[in-house]
Amino acid sequence: MRNEEWERWGDQEGGLREKQQRTTNNEQLTTNNEQRTTNNEQRTTNNEQRTTNNEQRTTNNEQLTKELIMQIGVPKEIKDQEFRVGLSPNSVRVLTDRGHDVFVETSAGVGSGFSDRDYQLAGASIVADAQAAWDRELVIKVKEPLKSEYQLIKSEQILFTYLHLAANKTLTERLIDSGVTAIAYETVERDRTLPLLMPMSVIAGRLSVQFGARFLERQQGGRGVLLGGIPGVAPGQVTILGGGVVGTEAAKIAVGMGAKVQIFEINVERLSYLESLFGSRVELLYSTAGAIETAVPNADLLIGAVLIPGKNAPTLVNRSLVAKMRPGSVIVDVAVDQGGCIETLHPTSHSQPTYVESGVVHYGVPNMPGAVPWTATQALNNSTLPYVIKLADLGIEALDTDPALAMGLNVNQHQLVHPVVKQVFPDLAARTAEFSLA
Ligand SMILES: NC(=O)c1ccc[n+]([C@@H]2O[C@H](COP(=O)([O-])OP(=O)(O)OC[C@H]3O[C@@H](n4cnc5c(N)ncnc54)[C@H](O)[C@@H]3O)[C@@H](O)[C@H]2O)c1
Repeated sequence: MRNEEWERWGDQEGGLREKQQRTTNNEQLTTNNEQRTTNNEQRTTNNEQRTTNNEQRTTNNEQLTKELIMQIGVPKEIKDQEFRVGLSPNSVRVLTDRGHDVFVETSAGVGSGFSDRDYQLAGASIVADAQAAWDRELVIKVKEPLKSEYQLIKSEQILFTYLHLAANKTLTERLIDSGVTAIAYETVERDRTLPLLMPMSVIAGRLSVQFGARFLERQQGGRGVLLGGIPGVAPGQVTILGGGVVGTEAAKIAVGMGAKVQIFEINVERLSYLESLFGSRVELLYSTAGAIETAVPNADLLIGAVLIPGKNAPTLVNRSLVAKMRPGSVIVDVAVDQGGCIETLHPTSHSQPTYVESGVVHYGVPNMPGAVPWTATQALNNSTLPYVIKLADLGIEALDTDPALAMGLNVNQHQLVHPVVKQVFPDLAARTAEFSLA
């Protein structure tokens, strides 16, 4: 082929290739355009979805505003050495996210490791004094109101806290007079368990052995016994009265330390459960006066852990039996908040936790978990929060929707309503009737 022919042929070929390229490009463009159209359609669908979601959110928010916006107060605890607080910042956040207003007394959470700033970040308002925290529709606390707080309790207010009224007639009278709706953590009952007592019982049970071991040290007034012993020297004897939550947790720690452990329990089913848990590592005994009389004089550490819900604890160890214990032995009566089950024991405090009677070291702090507030506040909140949410969302009507919470009601509209506390104070139950007639 001559050069010109080659060039012409080349031009033709090039034109053809260009054409093909253009066609390919056009096809690509068409594909891209189709893709874009699909993407745009997808975007439109997404936007529609977003609009629907936003509408849904608006509806939800409207729904929320239709429910109660509760004013919730969190006072600082004033009981001796009590560092727990009714709501943690995480709980506050849950409540403020639901549209409620939370008012926390300044430095209420400091003892548990939470600053005012932590609460502010969770959406709470910090108020300067107890009055401003108490002056709310729903008050969340840890311990029962003390005398200086009585004047702050208001009628038409819901108080949700530990109350232990069976051991405190003055407070019971005060609550009846005030017209407050008082719901006690310790009598909220679900499936025959006490879910708001349980986390504190777990902590108190574990602490009872930790403290008991410390008070057995010579420098603390104890007889100088190492609970776990050492090869060649016998371990200490831990005797536990009551094999419920406190007793079981105490036994776990004592067994872990290597002590000899026995539990006295009146409920046979519970004894079977304890056997499945501990096997032969714990001596399990049915609780009778005779069996307790035999065991107590040999105990290095005696732990009181019985409970008859809503009632004063039964006295299982009397004065003369305490006198038979070896000097320097230790009694930790965890049941002291229900009056205690050891005759010689009276309530003590974290700042003066022990005293000696008949040569035996007595410990009776009614708010033991207050010693470990960082753990205890969070453990308590994990259990109380679902009920706090219900009370915040529904107010007093929450009691109609939740039978477990309804069991917590102790005093309502000048009436003593909890059946067991009524039995403890028949005169106050009668006075209640007078109020309802008036
Ligand atoms: N001091 C504190 O800081 C603190 C903290 C938490 C709980 N507590 C108290 O500890 C006590 C025990 O609480 P819990 O959660 O373990 O209760 P629980 O109901 O789980 O256990 C109590 C056990 O005592 C048993 N019992 C009743 N009468 C008995 C008897 N005569 N002899 C032997 N056992 C008997 C019951 O059968 C039950 O198993 C309660 O008074 C509670 O208020 C105190």
